[in-house]
Amino acid sequence: MKIKVGLCGAGQFGRRFVPVFQRHPDVAEVYLADVLPDRLAREAARLGVTKTFDSLEALCRSDCDCVALFTQRWLHAPQAVQALKAGKHVYSAVPAAVTLEELGELVEAVKSTGLIYMLGETSYYRAQTTFCRDKFARGEFGDFVYGEGQYHHDMAHFYASYMHSGGDAWKSTASFPPMLYPTHSTAFVLGVTFARMTEVSCFGQVDHHDDGVFRAETSQWGNVFSNQSALFRTSDGGMARINEFRRVGAGDGRMTIMGTRAAYEEQPGQGVFTWLDFPEDYGQGDSIPFREARRLVALRREDVSDIRVFDGVEVTEENLGDLPREYLGKTFLGLSPAQPFWQLPLEFAGVPNGHDGTHVFLVNDFVRSVVAQKLPPNHVWQAARYNAPGIVAHESAKRDGERLSIPDFGMPPADWPVLDTTRPLQP
Ligand SMILES: NC(=O)c1ccc[n+]([C@@H]2O[C@H](COP(=O)([O-])OP(=O)(O)OC[C@H]3O[C@@H](n4cnc5c(N)ncnc54)[C@H](O)[C@@H]3O)[C@@H](O)[C@H]2O)c1
Repeated sequence: MKIKVGLCGAGQFGRRFVPVFQRHPDVAEVYLADVLPDRLAREAARLGVTKTFDSLEALCRSDCDCVALFTQRWLHAPQAVQALKAGKHVYSAVPAAVTLEELGELVEAVKSTGLIYMLGETSYYRAQTTFCRDKFARGEFGDFVYGEGQYHHDMAHFYASYMHSGGDAWKSTASFPPMLYPTHSTAFVLGVTFARMTEVSCFGQVDHHDDGVFRAETSQWGNVFSNQSALFRTSDGGMARINEFRRVGAGDGRMTIMGTRAAYEEQPGQGVFTWLDFPEDYGQGDSIPFREARRLVALRREDVSDIRVFDGVEVTEENLGDLPREYLGKTFLGLSPAQPFWQLPLEFAGVPNGHDGTHVFLVNDFVRSVVAQKLPPNHVWQAARYNAPGIVAHESAKRDGERLSIPDFGMPPADWPVLDTTRPLQP
């Protein structure tokens, strides 16, 4: 079965995904939609797209099998519900939703239609998340203790994008509350443990910059916070700290995972990525901790910085594994050695990639899930787990850190088959 993909939103991000979808062997054709006619015509011509549509409504009336949403960040949930109700499978750029009500409607729409929904969360596919996910699944971390996810981008990094996106009224949407865009950070933790965030206390920093972006009277959300920091309780008994900063002299996404037996830590600014663990015999058997008690049990420290080198992966006799021999000599661009290139179709060799090698995995998992009618890793229930903590955290910040409960949007139906890369959610 080959599918037709209707990509909605020919902006700065969406246009980068057109060539990736076009090259997937299970995609017959890519359509493009945008409400801005000049942008649509220019990008369609540049990308070799022949079928274009002037709105999401028109795209939903077309014969495409699925809609890939790359519209502005506060539009996704209602648009996803609209497309699902029109009988289309949905890929959505992050975030999934901006209110708990929207999240609930989205989950219900997926349940009632039985169609595939996938959140296009890049952090899930990043090399360090993949590395930690595999280590965690093998038990190498021990029990989860603490995780950090942070996404630091000064507003100055975003001025051009918001002007491109919002036109003359760009400040009203540039003030998007940071915690309503939490998924890059929450996925760094939940995309490793598959647990849930259950409670939060969050503080916000009121912005005073003279660009006037984060002002109640200007903001579409009445938002005055440019920086928000939250502490969460997790359902596996641990804790997590999420930072969403938009006015800060730093610029990075960063994760930390600490378990009872090991930790992954990073200093992206310095290019330092570290795995720490105990000697193999530490804590094995009852008597050893006591025997060791009178001397320091030194942690082993391993520099794993090579997982964050995105020079691409060339397939050789050494890494061919079980792949067909046609893969030999092909190069998957922009990947690190920690990312599972063997999941990718041969046709993705040479395809332009982005966001630290993640674009090809996003597209491949979505297309595979639609073709096989199987749940992708970031299905709607996992999307709700990434998003709901931020929505409640923003509410907590508005109440000066009041501790609030985060609702549970449930688990996928047990009889819905899953892709081979999909791991079970923990209660
Ligand atoms: N790492 C990541 O995952 C990542 C990175 C960048 C952007 N994003 C997300 O991707 C999305 C798109 O970002 P962008 O920078 O390309 O935004 P953009 O503003 O440049 O593009 C959005 C496009 O959608 C179009 N659009 C809006 N409503 C429409 C409708 N009803 N029908 C048809 N077209 C419509 C707009 O006209 C615009 O061209 C955002 O939600 C953003 O959060 C994610």
